Amino acid sequence: MTGLRLGVNIDHVATIRNARGGAFPDPVRAAKLAAQAGADGITAHLREDRRHISDDDIARLAREIDLPLNLEMAATDEMLAIALKHRPHAACIVPEKREERTTEGGIDAAGRHDRLSPIVRALGEAGVRVSLFIEPDLRQLDAARSLGAPVVELHTGAYSEAEGEARARLLEKLRAAAAHGASLGLEIHAGHGLTYDNVGPVAAIPEIRELNIGHFLVGEAIFVGLEAAIRRMRALMDAARAP
Ligand code: PXP
Repeated sequence: MTGLRLGVNIDHVATIRNARGGAFPDPVRAAKLAAQAGADGITAHLREDRRHISDDDIARLAREIDLPLNLEMAATDEMLAIALKHRPHAACIVPEKREERTTEGGIDAAGRHDRLSPIVRALGEAGVRVSLFIEPDLRQLDAARSLGAPVVELHTGAYSEAEGEARARLLEKLRAAAAHGASLGLEIHAGHGLTYDNVGPVAAIPEIRELNIGHFLVGEAIFVGLEAAIRRMRALMDAARAP
């Protein structure tokens, strides 16, 4: 055990299912397999447009899986009501735009204080561990702290897409953000765009307690199977974290 958890995001199992509108492949089956492969949690994003995970998926995940469920959700009244109904272990508040292909940036914890504050409070009072998905920006960490969120998830999308010196610079930003967040007492998570090739340096950041990884694992599962893909990711994370 390295103290670094792996949350497996199963959204894109549902994407493949929805391409045909039937019941296969089943994201709940993927979640159960992920548990066997060493995942520490399951993450699912119920988007406003329901393009992948459905309301029924969330109900089944909440009911049927043993691992902690992390519900990714937009800061809307509809999503708050769903989260309060199912009371997942955790909820990660993400920005959401209908036209985007994926979650393209972090939430503006500083600028959206008035919208976020009652949602963070309501979830916390219901016993749901709240995280805010933010850019690795010190101002956003300060804002997350003042909102009373116990956890932040640092957006690794820009780092994952960059190369060479730009990637090194963005890694440095992630390191600085993780250190600053931890010094404020926040629990630090990270995710988006992580692959076998880029996970190591992020996993090595000592303050990071959890990585949430989805798209790459589901894609890799086509070639090697979901269990093998998760096991390899877990091994790479552990190797990066080893003293
Ligand atoms: N963390 C958050 C908050 C996300 O929104 C996503 C994408 O849904 C992920 C992690 C996983 O990103 P990816 O699918 O690129 O691994």
